[in-house]
Amino acid sequence: MPFIQVSEIKGVFSPEQKAETASSVQAPINETKLNAFVGKMLGDVGAVASAVNVIVGDRLGLYRALLDGGPQTPQQLAERTGTYERNIREWLANQAASGYVEFDPASGQFNLPAEHAAIFVDENSPVNMCGLFDTLQTLFIDEPVLTESFRSGRGVGWDQHNTALFAATNRFFTPSYKAHLLAEWLPALTGVEEKLRTGARVADVGAGYGTSTQLMAQAFPNSQFAGFDYHAGSVEAAKRSAQAAGLSSRVHFDVASATDFPGGPYDFITCFDCIHDMGDPVGALEHIRRSLTSDGTFMMVEPAAKDRLEDNLNPVGRIFYGISSFICTPASLAQEGAYGLGAQAGVARLTDVLGKAGFEKIRVAAQTPFHLVFEAR
Ligand SMILES: C[S@@+](CC[C@H](N)C(=O)[O-])C[C@H]1O[C@@H](n2cnc3c(N)ncnc32)[C@H](O)[C@@H]1O
Repeated sequence: MPFIQVSEIKGVFSPEQKAETASSVQAPINETKLNAFVGKMLGDVGAVASAVNVIVGDRLGLYRALLDGGPQTPQQLAERTGTYERNIREWLANQAASGYVEFDPASGQFNLPAEHAAIFVDENSPVNMCGLFDTLQTLFIDEPVLTESFRSGRGVGWDQHNTALFAATNRFFTPSYKAHLLAEWLPALTGVEEKLRTGARVADVGAGYGTSTQLMAQAFPNSQFAGFDYHAGSVEAAKRSAQAAGLSSRVHFDVASATDFPGGPYDFITCFDCIHDMGDPVGALEHIRRSLTSDGTFMMVEPAAKDRLEDNLNPVGRIFYGISSFICTPASLAQEGAYGLGAQAGVARLTDVLGKAGFEKIRVAAQTPFHLVFEAR
């Protein structure tokens, strides 16, 4: 069912306007095709208008209050959240028009179904998307700088982004790591869990806020963990959270580039969603290979993608290409090497960079709708 019936938008163009548009785009206008595209774009523009309302709902705890309190009128939701009723009424109207909450005209109440709460409320749900909305908000904030970088080709470093990006990215990826890292990804690697249980030396490179490092450290108390990232602000945040979690004796975070981090040899090295952000992924992977013990394992987690562009033209590809054009690719172009792998590199290109770095045994050990997990030795 289209978002809006073509019949409803027929007549948007008068015959004169149609002729005028045809002459300005120098092509005849197929009205059916035009109407279908207007309908699609109304849906897309509506999603963008709703996106900022999602962020408000998250910040003010509106979704949480809807879940906890059950069906509510705007007045009830405003009282429960200490907000102003007139604003909340309009917000709920947007959410109902978006299909994010349900509206019952008979009672005047709005309801958040449990299935929708998995997206907006439950931070442990693998389909929580609040971090994704936070990340997209930062793209709008950074747009002027990014637009200029499209002209110059000089890129925009990860560290040059609005500071909100760093926590947003961590929030975006954390639900996936919590859902899959310990339960599926580590068990899919040959002999790694056993080493971690016995006691291994582990490096997590490009660790950001260190969530992946800490999840592994909590699960494997006999192992020692080092987290590295070239962005000092993220390393500070990682140190603070490791300390708060009582992990400081076994988990250390330091500022270091992927091409020269210290402390090897390690039994196990990981990279989560960061190799494609680097200017010299082959150089980084070479250093990683040289920093492994002779029987060590490297696990590389990268965004899920097929090899050919035409096979990535789907909702997940759309999100990743959108983020890649604004964050990942400019981040790589800003670093020495300027490789520009992109966030939709796919198995063939990722296998190629691993091979160029000297890894001989490479396989995709696991995958989810959002991630590819490589084992390389
Ligand atoms: C998309 S974030 C992922 C962070 C973290 N691994 C996670 O999954 O949440 C990419 C990270 O790679 C780091 N990074 C980019 N280039 C780097 C380089 N050359 N050396 C080390 N870290 C790098 C960035 O600072 C950033 O923290």
